[in-house]
Amino acid sequence: MTTLHKTTKSPKKPAPPDVITPAKIDWQTDDAGNHVPVSGEFGDVYFSHADGLAESRHVFLSHNQLAERLANLADKQFFTIAELGFGTGLNFLATWQLWRELRAQQPNLANTRLHFITTEKYPIPLTDLTQILSLWAHRAPELAELINELLANYPPLIAGCHRLHFIDDNIILDIWLGDASDSLASLATFDNLTTVDTEATIKRPYIDAWFLDGFAPSCNETLWAESIFTQMQRLSRTGTTAATYSCAGIVKRGLQAHGFSIKKVKGFGRKREMLTAVMADNADSLELDNDISVSLNLPSHTVVIGAGVAGLLTAWTLANRGVTVTIVDKVAPIAGASGNPRALLAPNMTPIHHVYEHLHSIGYLYSGRLYCYFNQQAVIQQTPLILEQTGALDLLIKTNIGTEQIADYPNEMATTIKTEEACQLSGLKAKDLADNLYLPQSGLINPQALKTIILKHSNINYQQLCVTDIKETADKITVTGEKEISSDNDRSSITICADNVVICAAYESHQLDNRIVKCRTIRGQLSWFTPTAEQIAGLPKLPLKYSGYCAPFIGQSGDAEVNMINEGQQQFLLGASFVDADASTDIREEENQQNYEKLLEDIPELSHVLSDDTSTWQARAGVRTQTIDYHPLVGRLTQSRHIWTLSAMGAKGYALAPICAEALADMMLGSFAPLSAVMLARLSPNRSRLHKAQKATI
Ligand SMILES: Cc1cc2nc3c(=O)[nH]c(=O)nc-3n(C[C@H](O)[C@H](O)[C@H](O)COP(=O)(O)OP(=O)(O)OC[C@H]3O[C@@H](n4cnc5c(N)ncnc54)[C@H](O)[C@@H]3O)c2cc1C
Ligand SMILES: C[S@@+](CC[C@H](N)C(=O)[O-])C[C@H]1O[C@@H](n2cnc3c(N)ncnc32)[C@H](O)[C@@H]1O
Repeated sequence: MTTLHKTTKSPKKPAPPDVITPAKIDWQTDDAGNHVPVSGEFGDVYFSHADGLAESRHVFLSHNQLAERLANLADKQFFTIAELGFGTGLNFLATWQLWRELRAQQPNLANTRLHFITTEKYPIPLTDLTQILSLWAHRAPELAELINELLANYPPLIAGCHRLHFIDDNIILDIWLGDASDSLASLATFDNLTTVDTEATIKRPYIDAWFLDGFAPSCNETLWAESIFTQMQRLSRTGTTAATYSCAGIVKRGLQAHGFSIKKVKGFGRKREMLTAVMADNADSLELDNDISVSLNLPSHTVVIGAGVAGLLTAWTLANRGVTVTIVDKVAPIAGASGNPRALLAPNMTPIHHVYEHLHSIGYLYSGRLYCYFNQQAVIQQTPLILEQTGALDLLIKTNIGTEQIADYPNEMATTIKTEEACQLSGLKAKDLADNLYLPQSGLINPQALKTIILKHSNINYQQLCVTDIKETADKITVTGEKEISSDNDRSSITICADNVVICAAYESHQLDNRIVKCRTIRGQLSWFTPTAEQIAGLPKLPLKYSGYCAPFIGQSGDAEVNMINEGQQQFLLGASFVDADASTDIREEENQQNYEKLLEDIPELSHVLSDDTSTWQARAGVRTQTIDYHPLVGRLTQSRHIWTLSAMGAKGYALAPICAEALADMMLGSFAPLSAVMLARLSPNRSRLHKAQKATI
């Protein structure tokens, strides 16, 4: 037995339950003299070198009849697989490759979707995974491209759900990092979202096929525990299948006791037997026949009200799932808070043991991946980038996290860099930068570029409309509003019918439906100016966070449509004032001064670079919409079938809207959301805490 390589840093202190321990990979030599990765925790191989891929195809793909079942999906139908133990991702890669092949052969699969949900308690660090998968890229060239894409999107190893979206192939991979039984318990089936009557329960998602790929029960019982089988039963419906190489008694008994009929079949290669299972009549499942497409009655047309980042991302997420979207705005896209020249993509950080239920962390990572995908589209279309991934340096002046807690994070997500490196990256010379938070994947978002890319989607249709009324009947909604038809303020009344409406009108959302709470309005003004060449040399070189934030950027084509910025011109922005209970958006000279003073107070050396005359600065004011508990509003309104909201993004809309839009679309279409049931309840627009507080103030 040869040990070629050993991972990894040993934890400094005992890990809290939801802190992720990366896998320790041992390389050992198998009987045929091949080097194979072995789990340091369990002492078992991840796959057999000789025929791991063929075994995976035999056990999990063939014995869940994937090829046939996927090939027969109806238009817009989706199919959901759940796996216990992501490991090296080989099962996922084999499935993805099959899916690609089928979609290439069968035009009927163009609008179908595959959702692969997997769980992993000891995720393999990226460097080890790269080494492991390079074996397969070499031995199975048909996987090589998929391996590169998987590795490029592989998340930092923090607890929670990481949604990886391989958009061109219509495949979603949700990697839930943590113990499988907690992760499965976190999957929301929306049963609690019943509205006017039981029929109006949100379409319930189910797992269609299970890949039970834990290590052998003899070396790891946790993936074969009662709690796992209980969750499998909860999440399955009649006809759901399962496959596993293990025929151990504990597996057979567990499946049988939880509604599955089991069958021993021939195992792979020299293995005598393996197990397949199918969910017999599941009293809990609402849909009796697995062949009845879950796509039946899928909404086909949605109106989104408000074309800020919340509305745009909602529109894109639905459009990407085949829904036709009409998005309207009373003024224009990104006319509200979302229309700043640039927005900083950054999370509010939390100590790592809170990260599992922390929307900011998961939202920030998902947004980063999605904006990088949009960047690829922008490169193809030769339009400005959506995210300029410069990294950002937080000086930890106004934050709830210190360097000790930052050290608990994977470096690729958040780290403290050495003082010299911080000085070099930022260009600051005098400031003490010893304590800092460096976010390598952070950067500046160009809202105008984001809007342009989203509105090009062929399923999205934008129109200017100031919505004045929403009416709901049992099976549809009508949205009525005033459209400007000439520059003389002539208006005409327009009515649009659709299956659903999503209200994304920020602080004005409650005016469209009084079941939405009235939120706090916090005015903010962002300032920017064109620095001289001399100033450019002395100003910070990357986005900095202090008690405000500042960043250099260069004007791009399209900027001038929204703000006074010339293409190609160097700019420097400073943000942003906070004025509570103020929803006006006039430009105030004193708030430019405040932005200037905040910068100088926190980084005094910049007084040599900037004069206090801010009279020539440009500015834009907007309104942040905040609930009293700081969480956004995401979900369907109480006593309604067709009216939803995604609003109250606070000061972090660009980090939160993409993941919230995913969760909302999943609720609307009946698929599993990338947020836990606990988190979805926390985001519900109907949460009692908000409504009680509102009643108390009336
Ligand atoms: C100064 C400032 C700086 C900020 N900096 C950052 C940052 O760096 N990073 C970050 O992530 N976030 C930042 N934010 C927060 C971010 O801008 C918001 O969270 C985000 O823009 C909210 O998006 P939204 O779509 O909910 O709202 P909005 O962008 O305000 O969009 C709401 C839209 O609804 C429309 N509307 C309202 N009523 C109707 C109606 N009846 N009919 C039709 N349309 C209607 C409005 O016209 C508007 O376009 C900042 C905010 C401010 C004010
Ligand atoms: C046989 S490997 C999976 C191989 C994988 N499916 C592949 O394609 O490479 C089993 C995996 O289960 C993971 N695991 C073990 N116990 C777990 C638990 N309680 N929750 C989640 N994952 C667990 C292990 O870390 C390991 O990666």
